[in-house]
Amino acid sequence: MKSSLKLVCCYFHKHLRPHIVLISICICVYIYLYKFRPPIQKCLVPPSSSKDDRAVSTNMTSCGLTDDGDNCCPPMPSTEIKDFKLPSQSSPMRVRPAAHLADEKYIAKYKEAIRRMKALPDEDPLSFKQQANLHCAYCNGAYSQVGYPHCQVHIHYGWLFFPFHRYQLYFFEKILGMLLEDPTFAIPFWNWDNPPGMKMPDMFVEDSNSSLYDVLRNADHLRKVVDCNYNVGDETYSSPQESQESQESINLKTIYRQMVSNSKNAELFYGSAYRAGDCDARNGSYGGPVENCPHNTIHSWCGDPKNGEEDMGIFATAARDPIFYSHHGNVDRMWIIWRENITTDPEKRKCVEDSKDWLDANFIFYDENRQPVRAYVRDSLDYEKLGYVYEKVDIPWFNEKPTPRKSKKSKKPAVEFPVVLDKVISAVVARPNNSTRRDDKEEVLVIEGIEFEKDEAVKFDVHINDDEDSPCGPENTEFAGSFVHVQHSHTHGKKKTKKMNSALRLGITDLLKDLEADGDDTVLVTLVPRKGLVTIRGIVIELISCSGK
Ligand code: C2O
Repeated sequence: MKSSLKLVCCYFHKHLRPHIVLISICICVYIYLYKFRPPIQKCLVPPSSSKDDRAVSTNMTSCGLTDDGDNCCPPMPSTEIKDFKLPSQSSPMRVRPAAHLADEKYIAKYKEAIRRMKALPDEDPLSFKQQANLHCAYCNGAYSQVGYPHCQVHIHYGWLFFPFHRYQLYFFEKILGMLLEDPTFAIPFWNWDNPPGMKMPDMFVEDSNSSLYDVLRNADHLRKVVDCNYNVGDETYSSPQESQESQESINLKTIYRQMVSNSKNAELFYGSAYRAGDCDARNGSYGGPVENCPHNTIHSWCGDPKNGEEDMGIFATAARDPIFYSHHGNVDRMWIIWRENITTDPEKRKCVEDSKDWLDANFIFYDENRQPVRAYVRDSLDYEKLGYVYEKVDIPWFNEKPTPRKSKKSKKPAVEFPVVLDKVISAVVARPNNSTRRDDKEEVLVIEGIEFEKDEAVKFDVHINDDEDSPCGPENTEFAGSFVHVQHSHTHGKKKTKKMNSALRLGITDLLKDLEADGDDTVLVTLVPRKGLVTIRGIVIELISCSGK
């Protein structure tokens, strides 16, 4: 040992100059430290003692540039941040109308409200510009979490999605009411789950000079029935016949799947838990079915690939389009319908709705008096206490269950994971042992480790027991669901942006029954890439119940 060491040293001494050796060593050490060092986050996050005291809390003073270098921060408050208080319960209810049913008088008033908001100086926290920035800041990581300065606050891909957007609309609406001097004023919702309301509402598209217009929207979509399964840039996907009725009926079946079959309990509906110290919300966290589709798909539908998907098709700019607030009105309405008409059993909701980490999570907004307030998820749950309701309209998708196609299954060679999804692939996936399946447990197909570029639109569809050579449409049972990602920021011509890592969880108990496959030991899963490129780590099937039993 000693002699060989001597030999090496002599060799170096003879053939290499000492300063070259020194420089090489430095380079090696540098590469080791910066390339192979353990991720800093892991070193800094203290191991959590309990799940239940880790609610994400927004640190107002931490606001800085977003991940992509945009400045979306609101003006720093000069007064102390107060806790948000529910409005007095004696004030009159605000009734949010369906946009397509609103009369002229209402439309004129809404246009005027937005006009006044747009006329406020940009630095005013109540201005339209700041309302849009608010969404950008929470979406793209401008804030960090109280107690975890290196962890950002994110409101997509998980259980903060519904409460954050509910609050954003609440404050937006209150500000408009103040500007109109009418505290009963309520914003309209885009009733995209009901055929008469499925196009972009007229008030947003009829007059290019109005405050509700956005010139960046996809001009081909202004008067077309929305495609809830839209693949960016693909006009003939779910309704090749271009007939409006077939698109409407496909949309209804899609919404049934997302709201009913795929949303059997809170864990599935709300998406992944997200706690303080979860540093990168996007690392493995996942959105619920409604967040994916139709929420994400309709964002993309409004944007135009020719304009780089701005405004609606990029989260950093989405709230610059007034239609954003009506789109989210209906998303918010979906939350209500899910709780009041679909998953009415609190046992199936308690894994999220009883969690302190969810209830205590909070965000900061400016109220209509320019007072900065900290609003907690727990106060968002009862919308009537926030003083608003939605106009009652039909819910035509309640009985629109997708129907089985029962095609022949293909028998392509199985793929190996991880796999780059650059073509249609299939895999045979084992189901949990028969003896562990129970009525109160939902069988969940988990597509794990989905990796993709953050600033590119992504979509792929998941089919079960379908024909790989000609996958069915979303109106059929075999279509299990979709993974949809809305790009977070502009690519600014950059080829590569940051990677994100997510998952997709689809409740498939109903689907397997409807396909008469509930006695099988395996299922055939087919993944169909529709937009962008993803890598997938694996596919498994799990059983979950919200009650924790
Ligand atoms: Cu925060 Cu519709 O997005």
